[in-house]
Amino acid sequence: MTLHVKTSQGTYDIWIQRGALHRAGEVFNLSRKVLIVTDSGVPEDYAMTIASQCDDAVLFVFEQGESSKTLTTYSGILEALTMNAFTRTDCVVAVGGGVVGDMTGFAAATYMRGIDFYNIPTTLLSQVDSSIGGKTAVDFMGYKNLVGAFYQPRGVLIDPQVLETLTPRHITNGLAEVIKMAATCDEELFHLLEAAEFSESVLDEVIIRALQIKKQVVEADERESGLRKVLNYGHTLGHAIESITTPSLFHGECVALGMLPMCAPAVRDRLKHTLERWGLPTEFSFKSEQLIQVCRHDKKTAGDTISVVFVPEIGYYDIKQMSFGEFEDLVREVTQL
Ligand SMILES: NC(=O)c1ccc[n+]([C@@H]2O[C@H](COP(=O)([O-])OP(=O)(O)OC[C@H]3O[C@@H](n4cnc5c(N)ncnc54)[C@H](O)[C@@H]3O)[C@@H](O)[C@H]2O)c1
Repeated sequence: MTLHVKTSQGTYDIWIQRGALHRAGEVFNLSRKVLIVTDSGVPEDYAMTIASQCDDAVLFVFEQGESSKTLTTYSGILEALTMNAFTRTDCVVAVGGGVVGDMTGFAAATYMRGIDFYNIPTTLLSQVDSSIGGKTAVDFMGYKNLVGAFYQPRGVLIDPQVLETLTPRHITNGLAEVIKMAATCDEELFHLLEAAEFSESVLDEVIIRALQIKKQVVEADERESGLRKVLNYGHTLGHAIESITTPSLFHGECVALGMLPMCAPAVRDRLKHTLERWGLPTEFSFKSEQLIQVCRHDKKTAGDTISVVFVPEIGYYDIKQMSFGEFEDLVREVTQL
């Protein structure tokens, strides 16, 4: 299955197929110098499988984890490109999760003002979310994704088979973003997540359908000036929870909790059931005052109001401008359950 994504810089393809890792050379131009970037947690085989399909491959491996998403690692990628005399006609390939993809994309965007970037996401979160939309970044001075660029890949290859080595918790973490997309935009996909048992074919379908939703959203709003805000459902509160609980809760787990207050009561029941059945948290162990305090510093605040994605009915959403009082009431409804 191939999805064609239209951007202002042209079109690129997302190729989704089990076993596709072994056939990357069929869809990517690897007959040139190729810098393969991966991290220490991604099974080495994956990068090696890509290297075996290149004429001239250089490997760059950094320490796994968000704490590596820094200017230092970014600089290391640029050094590898420079030391190996990469030119504008060469390319980089990211093989890994969102950390690898975001940083490799940013290095590709800035080396010689832009060289070709291919992305091979290997976590569920990166397959359904970060590999599409052109956002690249590194963290800076404690702020997440503070330095970055919009830079579109030349191509994306998604091989659901690589998820077999991922921990169940990382699968669940990615599913939170899928549940978010389904709750706001696709009632049918939500129903599938509510009812289906986990299997390879369900996973493949979930990946494809989540990508179709994200493709529609980012094509309509490439630079996040309007529609793309829907992707922030659960994120305002989610980020606040993340800043209090990191590293004990993963991003998707925080988003799961962040979605619960921002919906109608009937939606909340279905959402809670669905999050629970996939092993995502639904219980709050922190005080609403603590969360509100952090939310007041969110980018989406303006004076005493905050912009929030709210789900009135599964498959639909509103972007509401709320006072902090209203926001706090919603958070309280859930934290005091
Ligand atoms: N660009 C975007 O639009 C966007 C969207 C969402 C998130 N993000 C970013 O993505 C990052 C999170 O991504 P993530 O959740 O993929 O985390 P991650 O990249 O840290 O990967 C999670 C862990 O899984 C390991 N791993 C990766 N693939 C594996 C595999 N197939 N088998 C076994 N282990 C594997 C990694 O080594 C890592 O330890 C954050 O930095 C976030 O800011 C970006």
